[in-house]
Amino acid sequence: MLDIIPMLKETVDYLHSRARFKADIGIILGSGLGRLGEKIKVEEGIPYSEIPHFPVSTVPGHEGKLILGQLGGKSIIAMKGRFHYYEGYSLKEVTYPVRVMKRLGIKRLLVSNAAGGINPSFEIGDVMMITDHINLIGASPIRGKHSEELGVRFPDMSDAYSKKLRALARDVALENGIYLREGVYAGLSGPNFETAAEYRFLRFIGADAVGMSTVPEVIVAAQVGISVLAFSVITDKCIPDVLGPVSHMKVLRGAEKGSATLSRLMEKIVEKL
Ligand code: HPA
Repeated sequence: MLDIIPMLKETVDYLHSRARFKADIGIILGSGLGRLGEKIKVEEGIPYSEIPHFPVSTVPGHEGKLILGQLGGKSIIAMKGRFHYYEGYSLKEVTYPVRVMKRLGIKRLLVSNAAGGINPSFEIGDVMMITDHINLIGASPIRGKHSEELGVRFPDMSDAYSKKLRALARDVALENGIYLREGVYAGLSGPNFETAAEYRFLRFIGADAVGMSTVPEVIVAAQVGISVLAFSVITDKCIPDVLGPVSHMKVLRGAEKGSATLSRLMEKIVEKL
């Protein structure tokens, strides 16, 4: 784990040589949520493949670029395309960009993902603000040899999804007539979707949505002291007794359905940050 400290320095030095970073808001764009990307006035787009030590995304629908730009009148840094554990990356690699963002000055991180709806009242295309998570990946991205330079050894997770930012998001949704669901996100390793029995279990333990991302990034954000606000677009219904087949295509179509709403919400939130 300590080996990433000099790597981070190289990555950040390179990025500073490419552009002037002045943002304190970071954004991670999830599967099929490119719409928000379209709202960003791009000043600079740096392909991940050009950034030293950055992993490269392998999933269709995940374009790999670090974007510097303006959204809602604010300077932001956005990750267009993220890394997943199921792609074969270690959790350390998956969360590397969050550590880079911290060193670039990011203080608040907005995260989006596509997720299956476990809560039976959720519909495809709904936007759910994540209030909390359950880590079922089976590991933590911060396991390993520690140094204070990486943040705290035992991060507190009681406000991992910032209460203050959630209150702001609720107000913004109300002001703009956006119907906002709220709930608990269960993070699994994937890449297979879950069985009916697993969906039943997830509901039983208190999950409202399920997906294969976000949890590692949020744990590292907690470790380094970045406030998080996260949203899921519900892409399919995971109701054990009436479960039909799901596919990556179906997930992308569902994401497309909620993408415009989430983009509008996130833009309005950024305006108020
Ligand atoms: N599980 C089920 N449905 C989903 C997921 C998942 O991880 N992600 C998006 N839809």
